[in-house]
Amino acid sequence: MTQTEASQTRVKSWSTLFKFITPHWRAIVGGMILAISAAAVSLAQPLIVQELINQAQATTSISVTLVLIGVGLVFVAAALQYGQALLMGRVSEDVVVGVRTSLIGRMLRLPIAEYHHRAPGDLVIRATNDTNSIRTAVAAGFVDAVGAVLTVGGAVVAMLIIDPLLTAIALTVLLATAWAVQHVGSRLQAAAHAYQSAVGRIGSLIDRALKGVTTIRAFNATDREEASIVAAVDSTRGAGIKLARAAAPFAPMNYLSTQLLLMVVFAIGGIRVASGELSIATLISFVLFLMIMAGPLGQVISAVAAMRMAAGGTQRIQEILDCPTEGQSDSNMNMSPRLCTPRQRPPRIQFNNVSLSVADRQILTDVSIEAEAGSITGIVGASGAGKSTLFSLLERFDEPSSGSIYFDGVDISTCSRESLRSQLAYVEQGAPILTGSVRDNLTLGAGPVGDEACWAVLDMVRLGSMLRTRQGGLDTRVGNSGVTLSGGERQRLAIARSLLAQRSLLLLDEPTSGLDSLNERILNDVLRDLRRTMTIIFTSHRAAAVGIADSVHVLEQGRVTATGQPEKLKSENAYYRELLGMGTSA
Ligand SMILES: Nc1ncnc2c1ncn2[C@@H]1O[C@H](COP(=O)(O)OP(=O)(O)OP(=O)(O)O)[C@@H](O)[C@H]1O
Ligand SMILES: [Mg+2]
Repeated sequence: MTQTEASQTRVKSWSTLFKFITPHWRAIVGGMILAISAAAVSLAQPLIVQELINQAQATTSISVTLVLIGVGLVFVAAALQYGQALLMGRVSEDVVVGVRTSLIGRMLRLPIAEYHHRAPGDLVIRATNDTNSIRTAVAAGFVDAVGAVLTVGGAVVAMLIIDPLLTAIALTVLLATAWAVQHVGSRLQAAAHAYQSAVGRIGSLIDRALKGVTTIRAFNATDREEASIVAAVDSTRGAGIKLARAAAPFAPMNYLSTQLLLMVVFAIGGIRVASGELSIATLISFVLFLMIMAGPLGQVISAVAAMRMAAGGTQRIQEILDCPTEGQSDSNMNMSPRLCTPRQRPPRIQFNNVSLSVADRQILTDVSIEAEAGSITGIVGASGAGKSTLFSLLERFDEPSSGSIYFDGVDISTCSRESLRSQLAYVEQGAPILTGSVRDNLTLGAGPVGDEACWAVLDMVRLGSMLRTRQGGLDTRVGNSGVTLSGGERQRLAIARSLLAQRSLLLLDEPTSGLDSLNERILNDVLRDLRRTMTIIFTSHRAAAVGIADSVHVLEQGRVTATGQPEKLKSENAYYRELLGMGTSA
């Protein structure tokens, strides 16, 4: 990244930060009113003290009422500050909720290819840790800083009235401080971004290790994984030290500027008092204003530091918010109405000369497949032939490099993904099961359905009797990613989920890979029963598994090399016979 790009990104993350803060302007204005009131009340205090000193010098006694007013004002200022802290606590929480909501919404809608290279652990850190820095910045920074700037401004005006020369000297020191804060702040933002990225890397490595814990344990690779995570943890130490180094100048800045101010004011003020140009009461009230200014000045400096740190985290949030969502192009599209309405009739599916290349690698070449309405179509091919890729194109997770796919004659690239997917039930290869209950998994695509409908599909895939013996029934927990179910049970649960969704097109990717021969026969019976109500396409690397299909397409290295009924292929196609395990002879 060039220096100009880096500074543009920094500016953009500032504007993002403000974009999330501005919707809460009412509460922020309320907080500011409290802050200004507290500032005004504290600014009145030196005037009261000055009046009390003048009274003491003139009459050797002081007004009790004035003393009581002074003390009362201290409590009023404290109460206002308390109210402001409460209000700002709420605002900062609301701001963080806004950031998280936008971020999570975007994270779940990125194009599928985006998840291929983004580590889930890092995304989790962005949504939790990075957004946390915004809370601190808003609570401890933004509004306090605005109130504090007003207090400093008010003090400067009062000091200007008391003594313009001393004020000019004080302003010079203040401007030098502002320059230094700005200069150090941009380094702090870059360091905060680097630190958050290092924390994100730890998150992604822990996620990888926990997801693969059984494989890691089985290969005695725990030490190896631990070493790589510890190395990442060590690297955050380096980034953390750089962050601390970038933040360190902020700590003495307030002390330095206040001490310098006091020294200069006392030196010059003292000379002017000695020469009779300035009264001692005026000098004391001037110094009191300086003291009043010191606190808010420190607040402004730490607020800038907190905002800079938050902007470092916001930069990482911005990176995700800048990614287009998968459906962004759909919303601008004149969608085909035919797929937007719910339909029960099974569709005809056509792949017309579909090719796909990824990173200069040809994955599919001129694939033409037709699945008649209400038929069962089998796709058979060796591992890596491109079977799952056909389904990811049909789901529009990816787009063909050339050619088109038609759903009942409608080019699916002209439909919104949402309307297309509302017609499809997809059982992915490996049948992913979500952490949660059997019911959660079953009803994922079905919306609210009764227990009876759930048990009916579970019975169809022969899971009903097993689950009835479990205490939880439909609410039985399936563990992380369905780990407490066997591979075949996971597969059958995924099939039951797609049946419950009642879609017009059923896509099954290697549905029989985890099934024994009895369950394979049962699945075939289920598919035969569904044949006329749904169009079914399923894949397998075993030709025997597609024996029930009305028509089979043989896929070899991304090309369809034969099409026909299973019996016809068995007698005419040598490669098909090879996939049947019958050798190459006719
Ligand atoms: N996202 C991707 N980026 C690059 N190449 C990919 C991607 N996804 C798949 N491939 C490649 O495309 C080819 C086809 O993959 P696909 O998953 O469709 O095969 P398959 O026929 O389903 O195999 P299997 O029977 O093993 O599941 C493979 O060579 C694979 O390495
Ligand atoms: Mg596959």
